[in-house]
Amino acid sequence: MANENEMELARQDEYLEKCRTHVAAFQAEYGRQPKACVTTFGCQMNARDSEKLSGILAAAGYDLTDSEEEADFVLYNTCTVRDNANQRVYGRLGYLNSLKKKKPHLKIALCGCMMQEQAVIDKIQKSYRFVDLIFGTHNLFQFAKLLSETLVSEKMVVDVWEGTDKILENLPVKRKYYYKSGVNIMFGCNNFCSYCIVPYVRGRERSREPEEIISEIEKLAEDGVVEVMLLGQNVNSYGKNLEHPITFAELLRRVDRVEGLRRIRFMTSHPKDLSDELIEVMRQSTKISRHLHLPLQSGSNRILEAMNRRYTKEQYLALVEKIRHAIPDIAITTDIIVGFPGETPEDVEETIDVVRRVQFDNAFTFIYSPRTGTPAAAMENQVPQERAHESFDRLLAAVQETARERAALLQGKVMEALVEEMNEQDPAFVTGRLSNNMLVHFKADRRLVGKFVMVALDACHGFYYTGRMVDQIGQSQHTRLGKMVDNQWLN
Ligand code: SAH
Ligand code: SF4
Ligand code: F3S
Repeated sequence: MANENEMELARQDEYLEKCRTHVAAFQAEYGRQPKACVTTFGCQMNARDSEKLSGILAAAGYDLTDSEEEADFVLYNTCTVRDNANQRVYGRLGYLNSLKKKKPHLKIALCGCMMQEQAVIDKIQKSYRFVDLIFGTHNLFQFAKLLSETLVSEKMVVDVWEGTDKILENLPVKRKYYYKSGVNIMFGCNNFCSYCIVPYVRGRERSREPEEIISEIEKLAEDGVVEVMLLGQNVNSYGKNLEHPITFAELLRRVDRVEGLRRIRFMTSHPKDLSDELIEVMRQSTKISRHLHLPLQSGSNRILEAMNRRYTKEQYLALVEKIRHAIPDIAITTDIIVGFPGETPEDVEETIDVVRRVQFDNAFTFIYSPRTGTPAAAMENQVPQERAHESFDRLLAAVQETARERAALLQGKVMEALVEEMNEQDPAFVTGRLSNNMLVHFKADRRLVGKFVMVALDACHGFYYTGRMVDQIGQSQHTRLGKMVDNQWLN
């Protein structure tokens, strides 16, 4: 297996060499390095894939840029979870076409989840002939090969696989943030929630070997990463199908022991698989963040069953109670869909009831979007858009109310924040993220980006705070101050 991995990496290296020859020719002709722009449309997993694609482009000799106007190679890493994600891609392709008219050597590539749908490929081949390369989610590891082919081809290169059981380790990566990183622990999904297209475009669930994950995280920590986010569509079923099975909780225990790491996040947790062992590991850890994203989707048992979620409203509420009892300072966030086929106003009331009882710290609310090929799209009782919008507004009002109440509880407290970036509106301010995933804006030097600081949460503005830095802490003070802060929360 390890050998196979080495061989594939060596093969991709040969293609990289070909790309470099092409890049050198570009440099000779234009007197500068070619630029590449990678744009992500999807979730954290897509964002992590984009870092791998960027790593390959950098290894090929490209200078990475955020500007499509400046780029000589544009890659869209697409998402198809809801139709509006697809529409955004089509909209921007029109703009890319206008750029290409001004700059004919511009190469345009599309990859990711949307490209796993035949209807999408047909449409692009028919109406977007200017696209140069299309590939999917399963052969991302072959990007060096596909790039080398595209750079010399006059025709559109299309290479989309139906599925794969392969996981290629140690591809080059170009991280977006130097101090935090996503880490894939598994790929694909086996749950087949009836509305969801992810299992069709990402394939069956495959877990990475724990040793590979730990070794990647150790290297990241050595490289200055202080926060990792473990990524999977359903992290709670991690490791079940490995040759030597291991639980997600056990993996977390091992990640927790990696030196240098200060914060551990993960997503997403499916409520049906969340174990007592996981709650216990979270409770004991000082590194695992005080945040759990636990998608509810609906509070109506009838709808939950039609969604194939495999839990009831009562089970969800009991689970939340158990978690809050064990870890009182935890923030719980969720995803909710309204307008699922057959949903009545009474079903929406059931969902709002759960929102009120749980008091989510935040919730992402979506209007149901039918996805071709999923069971729900073929259901007859589709909800009219107008009614779905009404339900959405009612739900959103409830979500905002409870989230505001939760956020207000922390006003006046002092908490630890990881400084993530400079504030876009005012460069004198930075934005920090608390362990519970809330954001706080405060005045600080830009050199603090990537560092942990203590911040007084002076004012709560619903979904974020404004505050003031009270002390910058080093590793040794961390535990002591961390405890103090925990106690303040409980008071
Ligand atoms: N694996 C994660 C979710 C991935 S998709 C999980 O199971 O929780 C992220 C969110 O998009 C889902 O939680 C769901 O709320 C929403 N979603 C997925 N398919 C959708 C659809 N067809 N229409 C509207 N929202 C959808
Ligand atoms: Fe989609 Fe359900 Fe899998 Fe999440 S668990 S990716 S919602 S099928
Ligand atoms: Fe979208 Fe694919 Fe993620 S469909 S949500 S980018 S797994």
